[in-house]
Amino acid sequence: ELSFIHRYEPATDPNRPPLLLLHGTGGDENDLLGLGRMISPGSALLSPRGKILENGMPRFFRRLAEGVFDEEDVKFRANELADFVAEARKAYGLEAPVAVGFSNGANIAAAMLMLRPEALSGAALLRAMVPLSEAPKADLSGKRVLMTSGAMDPIIPADNAKRLAAALSEAGADVEHQVLPTGHNLSQTDLQLLVKWFAERS
Ligand code: MLT
Repeated sequence: ELSFIHRYEPATDPNRPPLLLLHGTGGDENDLLGLGRMISPGSALLSPRGKILENGMPRFFRRLAEGVFDEEDVKFRANELADFVAEARKAYGLEAPVAVGFSNGANIAAAMLMLRPEALSGAALLRAMVPLSEAPKADLSGKRVLMTSGAMDPIIPADNAKRLAAALSEAGADVEHQVLPTGHNLSQTDLQLLVKWFAERS
């Protein structure tokens, strides 16, 4: 038994990287499977359900208010999720996955990059913000990161997303940050950018 409720779909194309799909607040392990199939056809899909419940809505870590995080819990949960990734890699025979996270899922993926960089080979962070006010120095060289932000996102201030992109590049990641004329929800342009970013890899 692995330590998170999750869905798993094996790869049908061995040249495609496994994806770690991380849903937003109120989502679950089923939400992003369709997105994953669309943006990287043939990838293995590993999709856990966040263990925190906020008024019945699953998330990946606790928050004190919208955009105000319980940073001790962020650290604990990022480590717990990285441990799950290691277990799942062994159980399913996977290389390190590329995280694809939306909103709360993007934030836990960003925290994993900083705290447990070995857990991920790269990340697509959709509507992410800075997850930890003080992050340890991680070496992210060789890791590709795509960030897409919404210029009119009511939850994430533009400079906060920019700070995250800057911190990840300073740590050595190969960061592409796209700011789109949209809000917190994903748009067609997000999908197009994701398809292109994954295609460029192989
Ligand atoms: C978070 O709590 O991670 C952010 O506020 C995004 C969200 O889940 O609404």
